[in-house]
Amino acid sequence: MAGARPEAAAVSKTTSDQHAADGPVPAPAAAAQSTTGELLELALGYVYSAALHTAARFGIADHLVDGPRTAAELAEAIEVDGPYLYRLLRLLATKGVFREDTEGRFHLTALARPLCTDGERSLRDYITVRGEAVFWESAGRLHEAVRTGTTAFERLYGVPFYDHVAADPAFGRAFNSSMAAFSETLSNDVAEAWDFSQVKSAVDVGGGRGGLLRAILRRNPHMTGTLFDLKSVVAGHVLDEPGLEGRWTVAGGDFFVSVPAGADVYLLKHVLASWPDEDCVRILRTCRAAMPAHARLLAVNAMIPPGNDPHPGKTIDLLMMTVLNGKGRTRAEYEALLTAAGFTVTRVLEASPHASVMEAVATA
Ligand SMILES: C[S@@+](CC[C@H](N)C(=O)[O-])C[C@H]1O[C@@H](n2cnc3c(N)ncnc32)[C@H](O)[C@@H]1O
Repeated sequence: MAGARPEAAAVSKTTSDQHAADGPVPAPAAAAQSTTGELLELALGYVYSAALHTAARFGIADHLVDGPRTAAELAEAIEVDGPYLYRLLRLLATKGVFREDTEGRFHLTALARPLCTDGERSLRDYITVRGEAVFWESAGRLHEAVRTGTTAFERLYGVPFYDHVAADPAFGRAFNSSMAAFSETLSNDVAEAWDFSQVKSAVDVGGGRGGLLRAILRRNPHMTGTLFDLKSVVAGHVLDEPGLEGRWTVAGGDFFVSVPAGADVYLLKHVLASWPDEDCVRILRTCRAAMPAHARLLAVNAMIPPGNDPHPGKTIDLLMMTVLNGKGRTRAEYEALLTAAGFTVTRVLEASPHASVMEAVATA
């Protein structure tokens, strides 16, 4: 086959390049074995996800903050099976999540620290919720999503994801707090990346519990802001803190219908990736209708770059395919959505790989 040869050549080149850098070039059989091993590890990658979810769920990291402990000591503290816990931690340690010393004690590592409950950059809630059956079962049906071009979640649960979130208050609370935890890690980056010194007011559309708005208001004492999201979500807002009094309001509603009018800046962070193109254009048009002529829209998303390198936008894209009817997009694809909704993109800033800020104004 014409296509087979270059692909095979590419694989052996990568392998030999790697080994040339690391040491002696292995015999062909050893190279083949290492490629097979790599592929098998990839195929069993879900085992690592399950292990990480389990560690987050049981709060293992919290129990290591004051110093290393054996699996038996940890198991007693959290009331789980010691030998099973040891096997779980041993696997995670292969990836640098915890480290086992020669006395069989596990240490907290830099990679494991965000598994701790406290701290601005805690990912414990996020990792715990992403390992819940809702996500796990949907990912198990990825093949159906790819075959049919429809979201796995909706085929399984019979309703769109956000309807499920609204109908199950316990899951809704866990999901919203996990989103807030994930956002917390990025809000500061966004608040730093864009210069808010020249604007007076902002509306965060689909702003969840308000972590981004809080980060912006903390840094910009001259500003006021409105948090806009579904009623049930804004009820759990985090804006009630000293220093922000009198500078914020919350509004519950539907961004397909209307959003609060008259602000200088409209934020739309990690919202568009959850929706198909036509719905994104509807949300953007609702924002445009509420925006004064001078206002700016800041659409914050992971933007998929060209090339084969890993990127969070590509991972989120697959997550979307399983759970939501949304998608990860490239810069050109986001720009096309904004253009279709009547905006002109003025610039793009990369706050982090998860959060590029696309600034736009209403097209005259
Ligand atoms: C992926 S979350 C992003 C939340 C927040 N912007 C952040 O970055 O953490 C999407 C948000 O859109 C909200 N949302 C979904 N449908 C909505 C609707 N019809 N009207 C308003 N908000 C909605 C959800 O409640 C959720 O908070």
